[in-house]
Amino acid sequence: MIRLLLVGIGTGNPEHMTMQAISALNAADVIFVPDKGEAKEQLRDVRRTIIERFVENRRVQIVEFAVPTRVGEGAYQDGVTDWHDVIADIYVQLFQLHLANDKTGAFLIWGDPSLYDSTIRIMQQLKARGTPLIAYDVIPGITSVQALAAAHRIPLNLIGAPIRITPARKLAAELPDDGETVVVMLDGEHAFLKIEDLDAEIYWGAYVGTSNEIIIAGRLGDVREEIVKARAEARAKNGWIMDIYAMRKKKNDQIEE
Ligand SMILES: C[S@@+](CC[C@H](N)C(=O)[O-])C[C@H]1O[C@@H](n2cnc3c(N)ncnc32)[C@H](O)[C@@H]1O
Repeated sequence: MIRLLLVGIGTGNPEHMTMQAISALNAADVIFVPDKGEAKEQLRDVRRTIIERFVENRRVQIVEFAVPTRVGEGAYQDGVTDWHDVIADIYVQLFQLHLANDKTGAFLIWGDPSLYDSTIRIMQQLKARGTPLIAYDVIPGITSVQALAAAHRIPLNLIGAPIRITPARKLAAELPDDGETVVVMLDGEHAFLKIEDLDAEIYWGAYVGTSNEIIIAGRLGDVREEIVKARAEARAKNGWIMDIYAMRKKKNDQIEE
């Protein structure tokens, strides 16, 4: 039986680690650390810091592996499915090499494993393929959504109102006018510039939770250019950027819960 722990590590601050996540890492024989290329070296460093600071089990084996980048050809869904197939093959090789004899492996997963992360889906795929006897558990982590709300010191929802989380490519040009909060992730193209209602409020954050955190909030029409500028400067300085934002339009009688 191959046993895996998919451990949410939070979004860049080692202090996001929960006690459960720390226990899980200490229960592992092997910790798999994804390497997504030089540009995101800082992300790898956060993972290394977490291991150095929290893993007391000195016999644990650390295995870094390269994550292939997704090629953006064809339909989005097909591209993602093919990419997952490639990663699933890499996982099978990793397990064969490092998890013989009932060993337990742990994956460090940015934020929480349930939110825009492929690892759980790949585990499901491996089970569906009939890969022998894989069992996995999920250890929740602090998401970038929570880190964003905390950085701005805001409740995410207005009283009794819904929250929608969407990848930027699905953000419609209009914000719904019912107090719904829209949280936008994976934005490589300033999708907020397409929003026509400039009276919406935006709460933007880059590298939230990390020592490089930048946040900007205000009326969309007033701050959108400032965000574009801050984003470009931060990307140029650090070589990469991860940002997230929440937007909403309050009705007169709506307050934050
Ligand atoms: C592939 S998703 C992973 C999300 C992660 N599983 C989570 O729970 O937050 C990556 C996206 O999460 C957001 N993100 C993750 N960490 C972030 C951070 N520290 N600051 C700002 N946005 C972040 C960005 O929108 C980024 O494009």
